Amino acid sequence: MNIIHSLTPPPRRGFLEKSLALVLGAISLAVPAAAGIAAFLNPWRQKTEAGQTLRVASLASLPLGGSPQSFPVIADRNDAWSHFPTEPIGAVFLQRIGESTVVAFQSICPHAGCGVSFDAAAKQFHCPCHGAKFEADGRRSGNPSVSLRDLDALDVEIRNEDEVWVRFRKFKTGTPDKIVRT
Ligand code: FES
Repeated sequence: MNIIHSLTPPPRRGFLEKSLALVLGAISLAVPAAAGIAAFLNPWRQKTEAGQTLRVASLASLPLGGSPQSFPVIADRNDAWSHFPTEPIGAVFLQRIGESTVVAFQSICPHAGCGVSFDAAAKQFHCPCHGAKFEADGRRSGNPSVSLRDLDALDVEIRNEDEVWVRFRKFKTGTPDKIVRT
């Protein structure tokens, strides 16, 4: 007597393994894509490219005609996953050249990115890494100059008569042109 076997459904274990592999594959693609989208839409990143205008000092703290002074730049910072409240994001040099006129320079050396300091005796900015020098007004010094461009000047606003606000941006180093770093 012939025995007719009925068709059996595919083994359940194989089906579950395939499903799990599909889900894991989808997650492995979705996570980097989500991080990329979040980073692109991140408001801090957009503000950095455009330049955040931040309060850096009071006008009263800058003596008229005094030497450039270094001030930290403090801001809230967010990356794709976290919020970092009030962190230093850099430093600027401020110099008051008029009753209500202040100039600002990025403290990052445009040669290769070290931090410059101001030598009050020599009345020059100096970079410790490769010896670049800049005049007090930011012009590069030396013949030939180590740096391909002057110190990077930043836009300044005086608000409420005594608040010094700076549009803080960073720029590519090693280039003759001032190119905003994104
Ligand atoms: S980084 Fe300043 S001189 Fe090179």
